[in-house]
Amino acid sequence: MSEGQNSRIHRKDYAAPQHLVDSVDLVFQLDPAETVVHATMRVRRNPSVEPTEGLALHGDELELRAVSVDGIALAEDEFEADSEGLRIHRVPDAFELRTEVAISPERNTKLMGLYTSSGAFCTQCEAEGFRRITYALDRPDVMSRYTTRIEADKANYPVLLSNGNRVGEGELPDGRHWVKWEDPFRKPGYLFALVAGDLVCHRGAFTTASGRAVDLEIWVESENADKCEHALASLQAAMRWDEETYGLEYDLDVYMIVAVNDFNMGAMENKGLNIFNSKFVLAKPSTATDDDYEGIESVVAHEYFHNWTGNRVTCRDWFQLTLKEGLTVFRDQEFSADMISPAVQRIKDVTRLRTAQFAEDAGPLAHPIRPESYIEMNNFYTATVYEKGAEVVRIYQTLFGKDGFRKGLRHYLESHDGSAVTCDDFRESMAEANGADLTQLERWYAQAGTPTVRARGTWDAEASRYSLTLSQSQRVMPKQAAPLPLPIPVRVGLLSPGGSEIPGSARTLELTAEEQSFSFEGVGERPIASIGRGFSAPIRLEVERGLDELAFLMAHDTDAFSRWESGQELAKRVLLGLVNEVQAGRPLQLEPLLVDAFAKVLRDASLDGSIKSLTLKLPSEELLSQELSAVDPDAVHAARSFVVRELALALRSDWRETYDRHAAGSDAVTKPEVDRRRIKSRALWYLVALEEPETIALATQQFGAATGMTDYEAAFLGLVDLVCPETDAAIASFHARWKNEPLVLDKWFRMQAMSSASNVFDRVVALAEHPDFTLANPNRARSLLYAFAAGNPVGFHRPDGAAYRFVADQILELDRINPQVASRIVSSFNQWKRYEPRRGALMRAELERIASTLSISKDVREIVERAIQG
Ligand code: BES
Ligand code: ZN
Repeated sequence: MSEGQNSRIHRKDYAAPQHLVDSVDLVFQLDPAETVVHATMRVRRNPSVEPTEGLALHGDELELRAVSVDGIALAEDEFEADSEGLRIHRVPDAFELRTEVAISPERNTKLMGLYTSSGAFCTQCEAEGFRRITYALDRPDVMSRYTTRIEADKANYPVLLSNGNRVGEGELPDGRHWVKWEDPFRKPGYLFALVAGDLVCHRGAFTTASGRAVDLEIWVESENADKCEHALASLQAAMRWDEETYGLEYDLDVYMIVAVNDFNMGAMENKGLNIFNSKFVLAKPSTATDDDYEGIESVVAHEYFHNWTGNRVTCRDWFQLTLKEGLTVFRDQEFSADMISPAVQRIKDVTRLRTAQFAEDAGPLAHPIRPESYIEMNNFYTATVYEKGAEVVRIYQTLFGKDGFRKGLRHYLESHDGSAVTCDDFRESMAEANGADLTQLERWYAQAGTPTVRARGTWDAEASRYSLTLSQSQRVMPKQAAPLPLPIPVRVGLLSPGGSEIPGSARTLELTAEEQSFSFEGVGERPIASIGRGFSAPIRLEVERGLDELAFLMAHDTDAFSRWESGQELAKRVLLGLVNEVQAGRPLQLEPLLVDAFAKVLRDASLDGSIKSLTLKLPSEELLSQELSAVDPDAVHAARSFVVRELALALRSDWRETYDRHAAGSDAVTKPEVDRRRIKSRALWYLVALEEPETIALATQQFGAATGMTDYEAAFLGLVDLVCPETDAAIASFHARWKNEPLVLDKWFRMQAMSSASNVFDRVVALAEHPDFTLANPNRARSLLYAFAAGNPVGFHRPDGAAYRFVADQILELDRINPQVASRIVSSFNQWKRYEPRRGALMRAELERIASTLSISKDVREIVERAIQG
């Protein structure tokens, strides 16, 4: 690889820091054009490493104004400062370092470090943004105590926030004022935060289990003051849940969340001062959907849970990222399961894992949950580190049960409180607390790729014995050692032909070798095996069985997740068969078993609306494409659209009756109302697919009458797939109504970008020129470009390659503004080898064109070069 000056960092090269920093005292003189930062650090040699003469600090886009050691300014020949950092040639064993730098928050379009957003100042320091604020030992294993004094104009920035407790404030000349904050907990620089602006506070309170009072503060722009209640309630629920589930309490007197409009990620867990993308804070029923509400609840909880898993115990180095992220995603999944419904949550999580992570594992960027090397750390906040990482954490719970997991987690936190540790430390704590040998589990951290498990069952009538043979295999990765067998827990149960569970047959099988057999005694009838209940490991499961067995399991399995899973497998097999027919040019016919299965679900009064709606949703085109080689997105789309229309036609009166029965209700975001809206939206979606005047009128009517965003969005989603006057009218009226609500306007861009209407590409090109479109705001850029490139297979993969060229052009422009966001979107080209040769070549050509642009960021370069290599 021609990595140029971009150096690759390897996990095996980890070395403890040469110096430790006991305290960091910061003074900010805030000004959008030029902010001056004074830093005073108590530095000493790390006693546990070989001494060296000098001190090396990280820095990025800083203008050095002054530097002194123990109060004496350094002469020019005593240090070197450049774009990479500051090196002082000789330092004492322990000393006070003072620096003064200037930075420009308003020109910081990368949104890393200190920047401005809608007139306020805010920070984002993970992973390596603290060095864009001041020279620092910016690595997670250097933890210090921080104080922050903020000085700013009082009229424009009445609110000044940082980590910890507010310890002082006062007035300054020229209409300025100051506030000082002190964080009593040692922390790495990536958890530092500062906010200054004209914000209002939505307040709440929480009393911890041991009786301490905590102030909860949600800070937003004044026009959003009425959209904070759900975030606050979510925070309170998360705090209570963590006490009840793991005995973990909050540790400061105040917990602040700030919502900002310009943010690269979802949210950030800075100690005591979380900074959030406004998308994951602001909600009221008229502007946010039920899914938005769920997203907010889980992200608020996630960042709160980091206070223990991430902040109190942090990562030694960034290769260990899954230690905090995989674990915290697991924790937020468990929380949401308890808040919403375990089956619905599991279905959502598994779908996301399969859609994003399985694809990543099958492509050129496949990496273990604990990567071995990187060029740009920001590129490793991946579905693998997060979602597969969470599945690996779940394996511990599957092995030890919830109580054993809790014991292990508490042991981990107690043993390592206040330090920066590794994934091995976590595994060891779990092993110690449960008296288990977890040596083999290390392979889940070290090996990339999705394992396949094949299951074969035989029943011996004479011996009344059922035997299940499981075998595992893995793709051999280029340049990696041959994969070794993983420890894979597989939850199973046996059903009798009558449809009831055979008592005592539910077990967790532990597959640790390449192949193993397990027997079930006293099985007097040929059973139907339910395998992989609850998705007990991140694997692909292959079971040889007919469609009738899948339909049987869909109706009778005792595990709700597995019922859904069998339905998806059934639909997937039917759909893949039809893709074949489309490609062979044969006429299409729908398998009656699928219609029957759908009819049964639709008419089943015992299922709640959320589960029903998920079960009646066909596997996405993205998921179907994963099963194919030489993917032709048009064939996939044709097959899926055919099935949608056939199901809509065959069950027309059921859909209509379901819609009517669930049409009326309130906009309240409560479980019964959410369930009602979910099944209502599904029914409407199938009805609109008929493209008949009557069903278009139904959607138009709902669109016009809706007072809640869920109903409004569902109606728009149906209309936006069509090409008709009603669609144009809906697009225009949506914009007119919501042009001043950025988060709702993002939906307008996103839904149009994901439309399957035949003219979608022209619409997307026009939207990129729309006055409300800007590449500078990450949410807006993603709403159009990421939604189109990653969420609209037919549109993005149009055979002439025009959409590839358009998206690549946009990425090149975006990269000059915000490399982190550009590099996420460019990943849409990664799978070029999996497409049919003509499209594959066109995609590759765009990757080459991007790679040959000399000025691209290292973020984008790392992705495109890996993608080209394949
Ligand atoms: N620590 C991350 C935020 C982050 C990610 C900062 C990447 C810098 C680089 C935060 O805890 C996180 O994981 N946020 C997620 C949402 C979460 C619910 C999975 C995000 O921002 O997408
Ligand atoms: Zn996180």
